[in-house]
Amino acid sequence: MATAVDARQSGMPGPDDVDQNRLKRTDAALARRFVEFADLECAASGSGMSVNSPTYAALSRYIAKHPDLLALARECRAGQPIPNLLLAAVKRVVQDAPRSALAPHYERAARGDRPSAALPGAFAEFCADNRARILALLESRNVQTNEVGRCSHLMPAFGIVSKVARQPVALIDVGAGAGLNLLWDRFDYRYSDGSAFGTGRSPVRIDCESRGPMPETPARFPEVAYRVGIDLEPIDLADDEQYRWLQALVWADHADRTVLLANARRIWLQDSPRVVAGDAVERLSELIRAAPIGAALCIFHCHVLNQFPASARAAFTEALRSASHQRPVYHVSSEGEHLNVTRLVNGRSRPLLSVLRSAHGRWVEWSDG
Ligand SMILES: C[S@@+](CC[C@H](N)C(=O)[O-])C[C@H]1O[C@@H](n2cnc3c(N)ncnc32)[C@H](O)[C@@H]1O
Repeated sequence: MATAVDARQSGMPGPDDVDQNRLKRTDAALARRFVEFADLECAASGSGMSVNSPTYAALSRYIAKHPDLLALARECRAGQPIPNLLLAAVKRVVQDAPRSALAPHYERAARGDRPSAALPGAFAEFCADNRARILALLESRNVQTNEVGRCSHLMPAFGIVSKVARQPVALIDVGAGAGLNLLWDRFDYRYSDGSAFGTGRSPVRIDCESRGPMPETPARFPEVAYRVGIDLEPIDLADDEQYRWLQALVWADHADRTVLLANARRIWLQDSPRVVAGDAVERLSELIRAAPIGAALCIFHCHVLNQFPASARAAFTEALRSASHQRPVYHVSSEGEHLNVTRLVNGRSRPLLSVLRSAHGRWVEWSDG
């Protein structure tokens, strides 16, 4: 049987996951969740889930040992990744408290400095002083990180889909957030092997460490015949408060991601993609029906399925299979540690690409998927 860690690595939360089930949030289970988050996700390397955050690693290990902070974590909305939500809520309140003792620690983290020994104490004090506001965020907000760095592997995936289908692409972004990843063909890309894509004039430049030979990727971006996103709660980036929440979801040490977000927002404000509100499982078939015939139907999702209950995941898979009886479906899944690209026809799937990649798109291991 998969352990909680195995399950999360594959993007599939296990049934005993404390993120999903509020009743299972004992101190011990929550503490394990924070330690696991520090070990697996905040580590500098080790897996595609490891995104290097010394600050959040130090805070998570501290939270794991402190019942007052675990009690706060217990209040996160069910189905939400608890450490991400708690740390984002605190960061959101810090944004409004630049004179607090905690704020300089976050500023230092953003400059790339290692956390100081005084960080956990300042964090605990800040949480105690601002408990009501943090609680209100935990009860009302979702983890909706919209990470354009993930386009480092989405862009080649769309190129492969278009090449195999010999058609423009019709894109449906499931769990799109603000829909920033639907703007992938407005960005520039530079890979460590020297390859570059885009006009070279985009305000968003995605740098990616390319490990192993990159699959042949068309020099020109494929034509996009249709693009739409769906999200339970689409984010309006013209709304300052919603933008502040997306900023708060960027981990304290990741200043480069804050810059990417700000620049992608500039493009979004000029030309925002359509993101419909609703449950992807309920509304997927309607979006599929609207996709033009003559374009390769490409349904993609990044870091979304871990927010689906198990029954919704099964229903989503079934919806893709069912749609493939009407037309070929290209399924681009970026969950857990992997990007998988699959072609589904009449319920049967053929893998086109499977690679390891880092959760925020900083590296892609093309040869070892
Ligand atoms: C972690 S965010 C990822 C956003 C985006 N895919 C990215 O990679 O930048 C997960 C998103 O999935 C959305 N979501 C979760 N369950 C959903 C559902 N059943 N239907 C539609 N969207 C959902 C959330 O609202 C959230 O915006």
